[in-house]
Amino acid sequence: MPKLLEFEQLKKSHANSSEALLFSHVSAALDHHDRVALLGISGQGKSTLLRILSLLDVADEGDIRLEGVSSTQTDPIAWRKNVCYVAQQAVMLPGSVQDNLQTVHHLHHIPYDAQLVSKLLTQLGLDTMDLHKNAADLSGGEKQRIALIRSLLLRPKILLLDEITASLDLSNAKRVEEMLQDWHRQEGTSMIWVTHQLEQAARISDYVWFMGNNTLLEKTAAGQFFKQPETELARQFLDQPLVRGELCLS
Ligand SMILES: Nc1ncnc2c1ncn2[C@@H]1O[C@H](COP(=O)(O)OP(=O)(O)OP(=O)(O)O)[C@@H](O)[C@H]1O
Ligand SMILES: [Mg+2]
Repeated sequence: MPKLLEFEQLKKSHANSSEALLFSHVSAALDHHDRVALLGISGQGKSTLLRILSLLDVADEGDIRLEGVSSTQTDPIAWRKNVCYVAQQAVMLPGSVQDNLQTVHHLHHIPYDAQLVSKLLTQLGLDTMDLHKNAADLSGGEKQRIALIRSLLLRPKILLLDEITASLDLSNAKRVEEMLQDWHRQEGTSMIWVTHQLEQAARISDYVWFMGNNTLLEKTAAGQFFKQPETELARQFLDQPLVRGELCLS
């Protein structure tokens, strides 16, 4: 049986130069229910990889398959309905908050599940929000959470989460995390979650994919990665004083 998502030998050069390599030989597979924390220092190409996996960007080389079917044989809109990228900087569509929440209903003719919306708004601390408010007037953190709900309404098979709690205060970041854990338990959605917060990564992942040296250097069970990573580079990454403090290792 094919894996839920498989990618092989992905290669990407920097935006303004076909010479400078961003990453190459990037291969991995994701199964149903898998939760992956995608880690690595800034500029390694984590966001670029997620955008390639949701067909918002293209790799120079390589192949991506969803349940055995190549991305080249799939309509990108249909693909993105199943492999949904949630960006750090949420983009609101013109109109009200309600209009934004109903986007999936209008675009994909999926019935609007008002009960689910209400539950998710409550879980994310947005239950008192006036849904008739212009979406453009929301704060960055409010936009972030509305965009997340908008994505969940698609009920994608895979969520690609790009630093989605980075602009939130601690208590709201915790709400997002708990809601997604709850969603994962109930829906079984697979997730690849980019975060720079190592403590969060340890809480939300079964596996760690570590990017370094212009490739996907490690694919390890999360417990093993945080205890004893395979590569020197990952050891150095975890050894930064801030990270050690965050993980209560020192
Ligand atoms: N479409 C693109 N094609 C090629 N290179 C890109 C593209 N978009 C961004 N880049 C470049 O690739 C590099 C990595 O960017 P990316 O945003 O993927 O890194 P990142 O690992 O997500 O970093 P951070 O942790 O800071 O978010 C940057 O130098 C960026 O300028
Ligand atoms: Mg990024």
